[in-house]
Amino acid sequence: ANAGGFGVGAAGVGQVLDGSNPAIVRLRQLVDGPQSSEGWRRCWEQGVTPWDLGEPTPAVVKLVQSGTLPAGNVLVPGCGGVRCTCSTHAERCTGYDAVALSGGGRSVVGLDVCDAVIQRARQRSSDVAFVCADFFTWSPPEPFHLIFDYTFFCALDPSLRPAWAARMEELLRPDGELITLMYLPQDQDSGPPYNTTVHDYEEVLNPLGFVIQSIEDNDVAVEPRKGLEKIARWKKTAAGA
Ligand SMILES: C[S@@+](CC[C@H](N)C(=O)[O-])C[C@H]1O[C@@H](n2cnc3c(N)ncnc32)[C@H](O)[C@@H]1O
Repeated sequence: ANAGGFGVGAAGVGQVLDGSNPAIVRLRQLVDGPQSSEGWRRCWEQGVTPWDLGEPTPAVVKLVQSGTLPAGNVLVPGCGGVRCTCSTHAERCTGYDAVALSGGGRSVVGLDVCDAVIQRARQRSSDVAFVCADFFTWSPPEPFHLIFDYTFFCALDPSLRPAWAARMEELLRPDGELITLMYLPQDQDSGPPYNTTVHDYEEVLNPLGFVIQSIEDNDVAVEPRKGLEKIARWKKTAAGA
């Protein structure tokens, strides 16, 4: 199931996402530049997906249960997809977070640049509209009420962060909400995942009018990520809208 030992060992047990993990070393060889759609596809093809929890992120489940999410259409960029085709995982491997967010008046689009992943995700779940496209160039028919980002910002080359923020602004309705579950590694000498701070988000989002409405530690982070994650909810202020 875990080709080359690169996948997770069991559902919900994430790996260490730093250079001490051979899968991260391999990931960094495959994703070899700022515009590396091909690199991400190679990761999926080769089963190098150390970020994959094998189930919905606990913080997403908690958010859904909180009843505080807006209704409407939701985008999960870099949603990921199917990690393996073994009989154990076949039925539940989809863009887990996208599927977990669907329902309750929310209609979810899961977006990923890897076509094979999206095709398989489509076969496994009809609850989510899985779209294969590049986040930086994709044109949806209408903007979203909610965008949820997890391990997407930190996976992108830091030179792309201003473009990431500009896209968030374009893809969200003016009254929409952006939720960033922020993975915040500090001591990486390269990436992905790249060193990330809350300030890095603020630096690109604040000038566009996005302001943090709430921020808290992710107290349900999986073990290797405990203490390294915060969840922030952003909205555009009237001044920036
Ligand atoms: C680190 S993984 C995170 C996956 C998922 N969010 C999760 O937490 O399991 C980053 C994902 O972003 C996708 N990706 C990278 N660049 C992208 C782009 N420009 N547009 C859409 N998806 C992209 C990759 O294929 C990969 O599935």
